[in-house]
Amino acid sequence: MSSNSAGIFRDHLLKEKVAFVTGGGSGIGQRMAERFAEHGAKVVLVGRKQEKLDVAAAAIRSVGGFAETAALDVRDYAAVEAAIKKTRDDLGEIDILLCGAAGNFPAPVTGMSANGFKAVIDIDLLGTFNTCRAAYESLRKPGASVISISANHATVAIANQAHVCAAKAGIELLMKTLAIEWGPKGIRANCITPGPTDDTEGMRRLAPTPEARLAAQNSVPLGRYGTKDELADLALFLCSEAASYITGSVYHCDGGTSLTRSSMS
Ligand code: COA
Repeated sequence: MSSNSAGIFRDHLLKEKVAFVTGGGSGIGQRMAERFAEHGAKVVLVGRKQEKLDVAAAAIRSVGGFAETAALDVRDYAAVEAAIKKTRDDLGEIDILLCGAAGNFPAPVTGMSANGFKAVIDIDLLGTFNTCRAAYESLRKPGASVISISANHATVAIANQAHVCAAKAGIELLMKTLAIEWGPKGIRANCITPGPTDDTEGMRRLAPTPEARLAAQNSVPLGRYGTKDELADLALFLCSEAASYITGSVYHCDGGTSLTRSSMS
């Protein structure tokens, strides 16, 4: 669990809520799920590897939180649908849907096959669609909150990241479309855009050397990497009553990186 377990909000902000978190077995998604659990939500951690999910769920349970797991690939619609049905049967309607599952590898367009491009589009964009589409009937209406993890890639062209740029741009417009289609039902849909964030698989892949790490840090107006806790606090805000009139928005939690049009975020 995070060192910031007191958070910046009062505890039990999400008491009785149910959260379904894809990419919840590691990284940013895991920390967001932990934050939801710290505030009383029952969380379902979704990811491809059962072993990773078991470790993440055990960490939540060890401090008194509630966590279940669902091992699946978000590219598989039937699997997502089945996990959502089980969640609904076991825990009740879903209040918080966090779409955080993502894949990435750095390669120029001429260095990736059609299948490589498709892999990232399918995990990030189709996976987000699958999760939202399958969850619609199960989302508590009104009051549910959908949050997807985007990136500065959605609005800035980044060399060696064509697949991620295309996928994240699609995710942002998908969330905005959901905001208008599902708004009348009382469902909100927003995006969170991290910048360079410490201790994440994404940064290990995008900045694998000390030099690349320093370059990424120097590109941030606030002059440092962000933390998973800071992103988790934003996710907590967005799914809470405090954000009840916020939908169709993209929230940057990136130290100002988006303003510099950095190619390292
Ligand atoms: N450069 C070029 N192509 C690559 C590649 C690389 N570094 N890594 C994978 N690919 C291609 C593969 O060659 C394959 O294409 P092919 O069939 O034409 O050869 C395609 O991508 C799919 O690869 P596969 O091994 O089947 O992986 P997958 O379908 O399970 O996709 C990835 C997963 C590729 C996105 C992988 O990087 C991943 O799972 N990453 C872990 C999560 C992650 O990156 N998290 C951070 C998110 S910011």
